Amino acid sequence: MDKAWLDATRTPAERTELLLAQMTLAEKVGQLHQPANVSAADDAESLRAGRIGTSLSASGATAGNVRDEGVAVRAVNAVQRIAVEESRLGIPLLMARDVIHGHRTVFPIPLGQAATWDAGLVERGARLAAVEASAVGIGWTFTPMMDITGDHRWGRVAESLGEDPVLAGRLAAATVRGLQTDDLSAPDAIAACAKHYVGYGLAEGGRDYNSVTAGENSLRNLQLRPFHECVRAGVATVMSSFNDIDGVPVHANRRYLREILKDEWAFDGAIVSDWDGVGEIVQHRVAADLADAARQGLEAGVDMDMVSGAYLAHLEQLVSDGAVSVDLLDDAVRRVLTLKFRCGIFEHPYTDEDLEAQVSGSDEHRAAARSAAAASLVLLKNDGILPLAAASDERILLTGPLLDATDALFGTWTLDGRADEVVSIADGLTRFTGPGARSVPWTHSDQVLAAAREVSTVVAFVGEHPVRSGEANSITTLDLPVGQLETLQAIKAVGVRLVVVVLGGRALSLPWIAEHADAVLYAWHPGSEGGNAIADVLFGAVGPRGRLPITLPRSAGQQPLVYNHRSTGRPIALARDGQWGRYQDSLSAPLYPFGFGLTYGSVEYSGVMVQGASPVTASVVVTNTGDLACTEVVQVYVRDEVAAVTRPVKELLDWAVVELAAGASQTVRFTIDDERLGYYGPDGRFRVDPGEFALWIAPDSASGEPVSFTRA
Ligand code: GLC
Repeated sequence: MDKAWLDATRTPAERTELLLAQMTLAEKVGQLHQPANVSAADDAESLRAGRIGTSLSASGATAGNVRDEGVAVRAVNAVQRIAVEESRLGIPLLMARDVIHGHRTVFPIPLGQAATWDAGLVERGARLAAVEASAVGIGWTFTPMMDITGDHRWGRVAESLGEDPVLAGRLAAATVRGLQTDDLSAPDAIAACAKHYVGYGLAEGGRDYNSVTAGENSLRNLQLRPFHECVRAGVATVMSSFNDIDGVPVHANRRYLREILKDEWAFDGAIVSDWDGVGEIVQHRVAADLADAARQGLEAGVDMDMVSGAYLAHLEQLVSDGAVSVDLLDDAVRRVLTLKFRCGIFEHPYTDEDLEAQVSGSDEHRAAARSAAAASLVLLKNDGILPLAAASDERILLTGPLLDATDALFGTWTLDGRADEVVSIADGLTRFTGPGARSVPWTHSDQVLAAAREVSTVVAFVGEHPVRSGEANSITTLDLPVGQLETLQAIKAVGVRLVVVVLGGRALSLPWIAEHADAVLYAWHPGSEGGNAIADVLFGAVGPRGRLPITLPRSAGQQPLVYNHRSTGRPIALARDGQWGRYQDSLSAPLYPFGFGLTYGSVEYSGVMVQGASPVTASVVVTNTGDLACTEVVQVYVRDEVAAVTRPVKELLDWAVVELAAGASQTVRFTIDDERLGYYGPDGRFRVDPGEFALWIAPDSASGEPVSFTRA
């Protein structure tokens, strides 16, 4: 047979047509089938018959919670050899794995990376993850996740890039660039996957997988925006989400998958279902059986069927019976083949089995993880006690359930990190602590309190273990895990100064800590180098620069709670009198607002100016009046004063990360083109209004005074 499609001088589209023309119906369907954990031993016959198109290496339906034995490059090569050398057409498999925030070198969870507000840093982390994952034969990963939510009862907020669509979109696009580079065919580039398309973060009650009731206009102006940004960034694949939208399961949702994503946005990549998502159209009770589910999934626009087996079992018959058009089948197969040609796996189907040892877990990668972790830390309160003095005689007590933790620092969705390669917080602190420091395990509070009575300062490392974070791990309270707050209160009652470092995969409600601790540092789950990063910041080797990518609530009772909520007919007066407030038993304001974070400097904003009309330019002068250098995240927010639909009371437009030496001033300028001021109106069309806008340039979403400008 003339395998003209192997001619790499032709374009992926040309090669796809040449190959498609040679394929049988059975081979076409095989390309859309994605079983998990394909192996040479168990799947040789299917591979030879061309009945498997892609595969994922995953421990099961909730792979983020269950560690597996990892990916062996030798086993991946063995599978590829059968597919390439023993099947009729020799089509290689695209091998996938969830490399969500690092492979062997684990970076902070995505929510922590979002707290850096640093697209370059996020891109770098994704690049290094791709280098490590591709070294074991992985060519595709299911990240970035960009579900927008305001409900931290939902455990998967840990994988998200925060509550704002502009921040999430820009960081998600950076992740795509880091994974794919501008040459997806390079051996160390891997295909990215924008997920979970769409609306998954709106699950009612924060209960994972639950129903979603949301109109198209609100989805277009919030949840869809980061996905659109990733499509424009060239993301190779998109994953459909488990939820329904207003009664139509996404896996059967032609409107969102085919009409908006594939047609309106001209997405030319491939859509992969989430785990068993096509099969679960039956559980949604919208399909009578797996054959009906397969028909609905393909017609809606799902190209690859992860794990359910519905496509493999039923598409041939459905096409032969004329129940499904062969054109729809060919469109899906084209997308999968073009993806494979773009990934270059026809040219390099095998992986050098010595590569992993050369690149994985290198010092360079660990240094990048340490920088990312330090930049993710958010200083919420500091009465001056931080930074701590290094090598001091001062008597300080180090304690807390996470002080000696190792794999707990990874956070959820860590499949290939190695616990024995984690720098624990206790290990990181040893580089700075002096003769006056001692640590006492949190095992018995009597011992902790006895030790607290002997010191002047206690540094406690508390918070959430990843076991209650991530997929299928929703919770009803955002309080610290059982017992931690009581111990902190008992410590404070001893009369010591108290520094609290909080770790977690979501917003935790910390009203007592915010009021009584002398300093509070939010550390998310910081990854392999978390111990070094936390120590670096506590002792001032690195200044804290993180900003909240979420709204920290007072309690779970406020959930969902976001800063960019839409205007209502009766605005919330955040004053204690509760007039028009929403609760009689709590302030309506959050504990800490979106965008908030302190540094070891002291930055003043002045001279906010807005000029021009289209584009508008805005500027501010920021001055560090403190004694220590700092990194400031200067944020720009806007409000469209009169619009065609209710719009956010305030929404992030842009930001800049600025290094400021002690005493330094800098003018920061922003260009605001129309695209940034636009939104989708009630007719579903994108529009930019003439008229009045309010604009803030401030250190967070709750600060600063607005200036007005008029757009002609
Ligand atoms: C899981 C998750 C998804 C993941 C996929 C493969 O259920 O929903 O994010 O990529 O299955 O592990």
